[in-house]
Amino acid sequence: MFITFEGMDGSGKTTQIVQLTDYLRQNGHRVLTTREPGGTAIGDQVRKILLDNKEGEDMHPRAELLLFCASRAQLVGEVITPYLESGGVVICDRFIDSTYAYQGYGHGLNLESLRHIITFATGGLLPDVTLFLDISPRKALERRAKATLFGDEYNRLDDMEMPFHERVYAGYKDLILAQPDRFIVIDADATPDVVQLRIRTALVPYLNLPTQPSEPPRAPKSSSKQKTAPMKKKSPRKDNLS
Ligand SMILES: Nc1ncnc2c1ncn2[C@@H]1O[C@H](COP(=O)(O)OP(=O)(O)OP(=O)(O)O)[C@@H](O)[C@H]1O
Ligand SMILES: [Mg+2]
Repeated sequence: MFITFEGMDGSGKTTQIVQLTDYLRQNGHRVLTTREPGGTAIGDQVRKILLDNKEGEDMHPRAELLLFCASRAQLVGEVITPYLESGGVVICDRFIDSTYAYQGYGHGLNLESLRHIITFATGGLLPDVTLFLDISPRKALERRAKATLFGDEYNRLDDMEMPFHERVYAGYKDLILAQPDRFIVIDADATPDVVQLRIRTALVPYLNLPTQPSEPPRAPKSSSKQKTAPMKKKSPRKDNLS
C-alpha cells in the first residue's frame, strides 16, 4: 500500500505523517516513511545540491526538475518498490503531484513534458492513495510564519510569493479533479488531532484499521455525545480564502 501526502508548505504533512506512522504500527502494519527529495544516500546528496542552491537564482527550473526526478528514481528503485513488494505500507511526504504543482503550475514548466519525465523516473509507479491536506495558501503562510522566530519578516518576504503559492494551490485542485479516485481531500484547517482523525477515517476502507470515532463537536469543552458529520466543520474565521 503506497500512500502519499500532498499540500502547501505548512499544511501539516510532516506533523500528520509522524502521528499516522505511529498509529499504523500500533495496529500491526509494517510502515516505511520517507520524504522527497532524499530518502536514500544518493537522494540525500541530490537534496543537498537542491538546498544549497535554494537562495540563488542560478539553478534553471529544468535542472531543478531533473534533480528532483533523479532523487525520486533512486528512491523508487532502491526503497519504495522493494518495500511495497514485501507487503509493507510506504508513506511518502510529497511525491509526483508536488512536481506537477510546483514545477508545472507554479514555475510554468510544460505539463506534458513533466508527465513523460516523471513517468520515466518512477517507472510508472503511482500512489494507491494521495491525501491532500487542504488549507488555503494564506493560512499555510500564517502557520509557517508562526513557526519562525522572525514571523513578521518571514511573512513579508513570503507574501511577495503569494501569486506563486496561489498557482500551486490551484494546480493541486486541477490534479485532484483529474484523478478523483486516487486523491482524498482532507480539510486540514483544524487542530492536529482532528486532522489526524480525518486521515484515519479516510484510510479505513484501504487498510485493516479499527472503525474510527466520530469527530468531536467543535467546542472542545462540551461533553455531550451529540453526533456531527465527520468531515463537516463550522468555521468562524473570516479570512479563510477557500
Ligand atoms: N493542524 C494544525 N494547526 C495549527 N498548526 C499546525 C497544524 N499542523 C501543523 N501545524 C504547525 O504548522 C507548521 C507546519 O507544519 P508541518 O511542518 O507539519 O507542515 P508541512 O506540510 O510538513 O510543511 P512543509 O511542506 O514546509 O514541510 C508547524 O509549525 C506545525 O507545528
Ligand atoms: Mg514537512
